[in-house]
Amino acid sequence: MTTNDSNRVLIFDTTLRDGEQSPGAAMNLDEKIRIAEALDDLGVDVIEAGFAVSSRGDFEAVNAIAKRTKHATVCSLSRSARADIDAASEATKPAKRRRIHTFIATSPLHMKVKLRMTPEEVYDAVIDSVSYARRLCDDVEWSCEDGTRTDHDFLCRVVEAAIKSGASTINIPDTVGYTIPSEYFDLISMLRNRVPNIDKARLSTHCHNDLGLAVANSLTAVAAGARQVECTVNGIGERAGNAALEEIVMALRTRHDAIPYKTGVKTENIVKTSRLVAAITGMAVQNNKAIVGANAFAHESGIHQDGVLKNAATYEIMTPESVGLSQSKIVLGKLSGKHAFKKKLEDLGYALGDNALKDSFRRFKDLADKKRDIFDEDLIALVDDGIQSGNERVKFVSLEIVCGSRGPQKADLELDIDGAVKRTQAHGDGPVDAAFKAIKDLFPHTATLKLFQVHAVTEGTDAQAEVTVRLEENGRTVNGQGADTDTLVAATRAYINALNKLLVKREKSAPAALWA
Ligand code: KIV
Ligand code: ZN
Repeated sequence: MTTNDSNRVLIFDTTLRDGEQSPGAAMNLDEKIRIAEALDDLGVDVIEAGFAVSSRGDFEAVNAIAKRTKHATVCSLSRSARADIDAASEATKPAKRRRIHTFIATSPLHMKVKLRMTPEEVYDAVIDSVSYARRLCDDVEWSCEDGTRTDHDFLCRVVEAAIKSGASTINIPDTVGYTIPSEYFDLISMLRNRVPNIDKARLSTHCHNDLGLAVANSLTAVAAGARQVECTVNGIGERAGNAALEEIVMALRTRHDAIPYKTGVKTENIVKTSRLVAAITGMAVQNNKAIVGANAFAHESGIHQDGVLKNAATYEIMTPESVGLSQSKIVLGKLSGKHAFKKKLEDLGYALGDNALKDSFRRFKDLADKKRDIFDEDLIALVDDGIQSGNERVKFVSLEIVCGSRGPQKADLELDIDGAVKRTQAHGDGPVDAAFKAIKDLFPHTATLKLFQVHAVTEGTDAQAEVTVRLEENGRTVNGQGADTDTLVAATRAYINALNKLLVKREKSAPAALWA
């Protein structure tokens, strides 16, 4: 099956661009690279790696992802200004396959209020931007922002002009999540019927979820002839988010009888990718979320359990294995050696360098001392928690906590700061507060805590706690993660992880001329 097959739907992932626009989901360079690698392994066709002109960080991320990505096309968003298009082109240059995605708003409201441009000016900007982008890159996508609220005659004119100017993908965004399936079906059909050169381009959908219809709208667009779906892992994105990649892909796979189109996604990698995105962005997946929620394959009622035991098909329309969810099983134990550990990590998709492997193995042995059964999830949490640059200014050394109902709660904390071990004691309103106050005591800073989230990695009272901490300072947001069988140690590690990221961000935040 090639990407040109008429029943092949391209998956255009925008987790790193539209997904990153979710409040609090800002990611650093290493995190973006890890997600891009996971997306490439997942088999998406296009990775929208960022909006190159928007900041130095975005430019660097698009560029680094362009250098590393093996299979997918790497794309950068750009407005219609030439400086935007130049940045998108420059950032994606090292990619094996690259795309410039340029957009301008076309609805009466956006043109008048936001752009302060007449329709004729917008029409000219479409021609100018697409032809300019096409001179720099063979693969150009054009989007009409707020497309679903655009006048149909005008939409047909601009789509025709964009194709004539060289766009090979035409994306029709439902920017504000306003459309409904029947209307979106009609819109895509109308474009296919009325735009004379429409057969020279691939139609694409980009749906937001304000009315909870993003996936339904995307699928009806496919039924109407769209052959690219723009989506994000876990459906993260602006406001209520974007169409969820895992839902689109599994709907196409599970209901192939009714929607007979295929994607190139290796569905067995879905859960792993979902967990990575949730951990990095700090945006936890709700338990009842389709496909990737903790309860998506859980059967609570006796009647359902009985049915599933007799034949899983009674209540399961897809298998847990098809999305990469295996029954939690003990994978390694106290006596497992380094080779078995390395092999297991490779099976889980982690190829660690020598130092990181050594460090993870040491932490695995520590964990195995505390916890009898080590599951896949434990290893993932352990490795994710340990992926750091090694150059962190603040390192965790030890923590002792006095807590309980009598109070006062107290934290006795040791940190290694710039190579010197420092110790303090702090009281707090609860043990977490005490631990965080102790960090502030040893390393004064003005960041405020925006999110504190705990989740148990596996079942059982000896489960590791995985904690996410979100800090904000002067408009900069970072997420930190920590995992440990002791929830308070995990929380302290997560805070320190976030703090180190903030320190890196502070250093990098001097704006370059292009982004000033
Ligand atoms: O929602 C939207 O309209 C977008 C465009 C920039 C493609 O994200
Ligand atoms: Zn969008």
